[in-house]
Amino acid sequence: MPLANDVFVGAIDQGTTSSRFLIFDKDGTPVASHQIEFKQIYPHSGWHEHDPAELISSVQQCIDEAVKIFLRLGHSLDAIKSVGITNQRETTVCWDKQTGEPLYNAIVWTDIRAQELVREIKKRDGADGLQQLCGLPLSTYPCCTKVLWMLENVPRVKQAYDEGRLMFGTVDSWLVYQLNGGPHKNVHVSEPTNASRSMFMNLETLDYDERLLGFFKLDRNKITLPKIVRSSDANAYGTLATGTLKGVPITGCLGDQSAALVGQKGFSPGMAKNTYGTGCFLLYNVGEKPVISTHGLLATVAYYFEGKPVYALEGSIAVAGSGIKFLINNLDFVKESSKINDLAATVDDNGGCVFVTAFSGLFAPYWIDECRGTILGITQYTQKGHIARATLEATCFQTAAILRAMAKDSGASLAELAVDGGMSNSDLCMQTQADLIGIPVKRPAMRETTALGAAIAAGLAVGVWKGLEELREVNMVGSTVFEPKMVEEKREGMFGRWEKAVKTCTGFGA
Ligand code: G3P
Repeated sequence: MPLANDVFVGAIDQGTTSSRFLIFDKDGTPVASHQIEFKQIYPHSGWHEHDPAELISSVQQCIDEAVKIFLRLGHSLDAIKSVGITNQRETTVCWDKQTGEPLYNAIVWTDIRAQELVREIKKRDGADGLQQLCGLPLSTYPCCTKVLWMLENVPRVKQAYDEGRLMFGTVDSWLVYQLNGGPHKNVHVSEPTNASRSMFMNLETLDYDERLLGFFKLDRNKITLPKIVRSSDANAYGTLATGTLKGVPITGCLGDQSAALVGQKGFSPGMAKNTYGTGCFLLYNVGEKPVISTHGLLATVAYYFEGKPVYALEGSIAVAGSGIKFLINNLDFVKESSKINDLAATVDDNGGCVFVTAFSGLFAPYWIDECRGTILGITQYTQKGHIARATLEATCFQTAAILRAMAKDSGASLAELAVDGGMSNSDLCMQTQADLIGIPVKRPAMRETTALGAAIAAGLAVGVWKGLEELREVNMVGSTVFEPKMVEEKREGMFGRWEKAVKTCTGFGA
């Protein structure tokens, strides 16, 4: 017998290393889920790609498997009112308008192949004014430089552009397009939290800006960009065309970092969250006007639901969980991520080691493409535990640097930092984080905040929740607070060593 009167929302979470599908009830509790890790393609040093077809098939498989679990629990299919999407941002897909086929692998946000090209276009007139329009500095990170690289280096992409057949999208666009059935339905949309990461969108108008497209020398008659719609919309995103949820509408979409802010219910200016995923991203809600950083942060869109858009200041860290993966896959330190905490706990401190995990340059607040990973302070006393500890600390130090920059940009200091994501499971790491930033770190018991954010965006559009006020009761299952214990003198000393290490490793990737 299906359980009566229950209402659920599904969330696709298409991340950097895995695809997932979760089904949430109205209290924000995940009742069923499935996850699939997919192939990471590293053709050359600094290159990182995904197979666009695998992104789609893994998502479809996750939906079907999670729904099986959901049905086994006694729920009925029609209780799932809609589906939301959250995704890795900046990862760039180019496909053919006529066939819907990808023209190249997706170039992942971490990829730095466009480094030389970035150096060149930084010399162009107008380069200095771009951040004022779109919130991001020129680097290998946003989509624009990945698209330009494909146009210069992939003949199929160039030919499609010349013939007006080139479609561009971030992963949200690619998913919506394919899950709707491809060229046959031609639902080609994005929303501001993703579109703003292309460097083609104006932060104020939330539309493409001819000045930005002109700077990148892109002809809009030759490249089709997704239409930018609200992050929560009952009609803009179409419906799932196949699989067990065929016919269910997609009604919300958010880039993963914005989704985590929403899932943490960071709806008021001054609230911030830090998500320790493959990378680590700190978003600070600044309200209804964008704040353009002068201290190395990004201005981005937090979400665009009813009424006005809400903006955030963002501190982006390229390496967090991927640093732990490096210790596992490349150095064989432990067998699984959860064991890093134990290894780091075998020693009392970092033993003098500082690890700047700048595998592909250093993001916020430094933005140095030419940095490379560097471990300093190694002696014969150094053990694996010290390096494990220094790896966890690297993300914490960079978070501390970001918070210092954010205080300068916003004129206010943060009172408490909400956290989530894989590395936040480590008590040692979260205590270190609190110690290094000198404010409490708050970790919710239910840490599927990214997927919950997508479910909230989708659920708001179809009335599962009537408004933000009603979300007060969502995800209220308790939290752990890590209070800072380190004295200021020690904190400043450690931070000083970190900054020195950053200076030392600058220039290695030139
Ligand atoms: O900007 C890249 C970001 O969206 C990827 O997030 O969770 O894979 O670290 P994550």
